[in-house]
Amino acid sequence: MSSQPNVHLLPQTRQLRALHTVVRDRHAGIDAFVHHSRRIIRLLLEAGLDQLPFTESDVTTPVGATYRGLRHAVDVCAVAVVRAGESMEAELRDIHPGIRIGKILIQRDKQTKLPHLYYSHLPHDIAGGHVLLLEPMLATGGSANAAIDVLLKAGVREEHIVLIDFIAAPEGIRAVSDAHPHVKIVVSSIEERLNDDAFMVPGIGDFGDRYFGTTDSGAR
Ligand code: PRP
Repeated sequence: MSSQPNVHLLPQTRQLRALHTVVRDRHAGIDAFVHHSRRIIRLLLEAGLDQLPFTESDVTTPVGATYRGLRHAVDVCAVAVVRAGESMEAELRDIHPGIRIGKILIQRDKQTKLPHLYYSHLPHDIAGGHVLLLEPMLATGGSANAAIDVLLKAGVREEHIVLIDFIAAPEGIRAVSDAHPHVKIVVSSIEERLNDDAFMVPGIGDFGDRYFGTTDSGAR
């Protein structure tokens, strides 16, 4: 799956697995869940920024030598899929303090699992730029595809969208890749499968509920 050119799976280091071990544990408290999730989110966002175009930019070092460097060549903004996507905003603002962040409110219907779009509010000039689309969970891919459609309707080019996912199911990656083959997907783990309730296995439960502390149970 990660051999797909549009999918960037973070290197599966022991360190990353140790972070996942904390957040996957159904008994993790909200403090441990948020702290360790944020460390993974930081890695995801840095990897997402690496997907943007760069231009050469030399600097002179303190010893008078030239460092042949790079800087981003494009304007970037972010769009968070409410609610879980908002969990990525704090880390993003730490990395990129001035970044503009649009919102798209999409909720899965509890019975049908189909996404429903309620609201969007995007930066006015989003059409010309590159977009980090913050959507931690890619299960069926329905919510991500609905959010991508909102961006396309606003004039964003498909190849300028980088989807930042905490975890993804193969089914979700396939759904996004089939519908929007030029969207880049950055993800920290690809799960085994979806279960009959369209939840990921082994999964992490309801990311939004666990991050914001709105559930009594980590299992979903
Ligand atoms: C969850 C999750 C994603 C979506 C993924 O959102 O945060 O947005 O489901 O599922 P899909 O790929 O099958 O569409 P939910 O609607 O539960 O809202 P939440 O963000 O408030 O938890």
